[in-house]
Amino acid sequence: MEMERQPHVLLFPFPAQGHIKPMLTLAQLLCHAGIHVTFLNTELNHHLLTQRQALSARFPTLHFHSISDGLPSDHPRTIAVYYQDIVASLRSKTAPLLCQFLISKKNNVDKDSAAAAAAAQLPPLGCVITDGIMCFAIDAAEEVGIPVIVLPITSACSFWCYSCIPNLIQEAQLPFEDEDMDRIVSGVPGMEGLLRRRDLPSICRMPTDHPIMQFYIKETKAITRASALILNTFDDLESSILSHLAPRFSKIYTIGPLHALLKSRIKDDDLSSSSSSAAATASLRQEDRRCMTWLDTQRLGSVIFISFGSLVKLTRVELLEFWHGLVSSGTPFLWVLRSDVLWSDEGEHMGQVIPTELEMGTKERGFIVDWVPQEEVLAHEAVGGFLTHSGWNSTLEGIWAGVSMLCWPKLADQQVNSRCVGRFAKLARNSVSESGSSYHNLQQLIQDLRNL
Ligand code: UDX
Repeated sequence: MEMERQPHVLLFPFPAQGHIKPMLTLAQLLCHAGIHVTFLNTELNHHLLTQRQALSARFPTLHFHSISDGLPSDHPRTIAVYYQDIVASLRSKTAPLLCQFLISKKNNVDKDSAAAAAAAQLPPLGCVITDGIMCFAIDAAEEVGIPVIVLPITSACSFWCYSCIPNLIQEAQLPFEDEDMDRIVSGVPGMEGLLRRRDLPSICRMPTDHPIMQFYIKETKAITRASALILNTFDDLESSILSHLAPRFSKIYTIGPLHALLKSRIKDDDLSSSSSSAAATASLRQEDRRCMTWLDTQRLGSVIFISFGSLVKLTRVELLEFWHGLVSSGTPFLWVLRSDVLWSDEGEHMGQVIPTELEMGTKERGFIVDWVPQEEVLAHEAVGGFLTHSGWNSTLEGIWAGVSMLCWPKLADQQVNSRCVGRFAKLARNSVSESGSSYHNLQQLIQDLRNL
């Protein structure tokens, strides 16, 4: 492989698990093709990502860097305050740092001598790939004169819904005048007759002048300035909506499911299984692998797996209702109950404290854990069903595994995902095969990056 002829790309995700994972998977796919990738995380997530060393050892062209998110180290980064605080801080504090960082990478200069020596091995930075809710990074890349590509981590359907919010407002569909959440919504072309109010992104329940609503409107509009869009989806899954997005972008690369594409690429290269699992992992939390041993003891297709991703919080009432339902169902269950799952004003973690009336049922049939290797769990033959919050990564992982999904969408894009998801495991497999659309589109992306 002629290393010096490979381009150098910066990948910069929004600082949250569900955003970092697909971006890091893309990083591995690009490095696998020999492309140099600088992966930029906020300082906290840089340190939490304990797989960095293993990934750098696996992919010599993958370089990790960190940047301040501008928040004090003791800031409680919970979702209720996190989005507003982090978004403001990224814009005001991180944006100028990013500009400096881009300039140094574009010109191959670095103040630190060790970093300078490493930088000398790298070609000048030629492209930025950033998240769908970080338009300050588009501004920075434009200022420095580097082409920018955006990877919104949502489905095409959700992304299209967010893009149509100004239209929904214009058509007086937003804000809602009454509480009839089952009313069909017009104003999202291609989804007529399908979307009810309850299926719209959660921000649509806010007043239209709410800062968060305005933030999303602005971000979605800014993305159209990018040179191209990368979507973690595949053509057969969302073709009708993709045709609505196509006129807004000069190029759209649909290269999902990314996690499956990475696995298939690694398998194609016949790498050992131990190294392939190192490559596939991109977790900010410590995985508890005891659940795999527990799953081995369960009957084929008998277990319901419950996971609400990395951000969703439950009220105490919701938590207990799920718990009662699971125990009463008489079905074995594996439940990811994160230590921070309860709303912060509702006290301590309840996961380890089993309510007395549920003790026997939980001990007999349940396995509760803080964080699991989710892709492996979904692939386990004992798992027969997936109770999910419909985060887009989990949805694609569920589709890929071919398990039945019971959807409990809570926030952001999850409502749209849960409405649109079908049984598409076979289509997903076709898309990452050598003759499939995602495989072909990734090749095209790599080629275009080389031609920049
Ligand atoms: C966030 C938003 O909430 C979601 O709506 C959006 O689509 C993506 O960004 P998150 O809530 O964390 O993501 O959900 P999801 O997209 O499903 O991502 C969670 C990831 O964490 C998945 O890749 C899943 O495999 C992984 N995970 C989850 C684990 O590895 N172990 C676990 O125990 C739970």
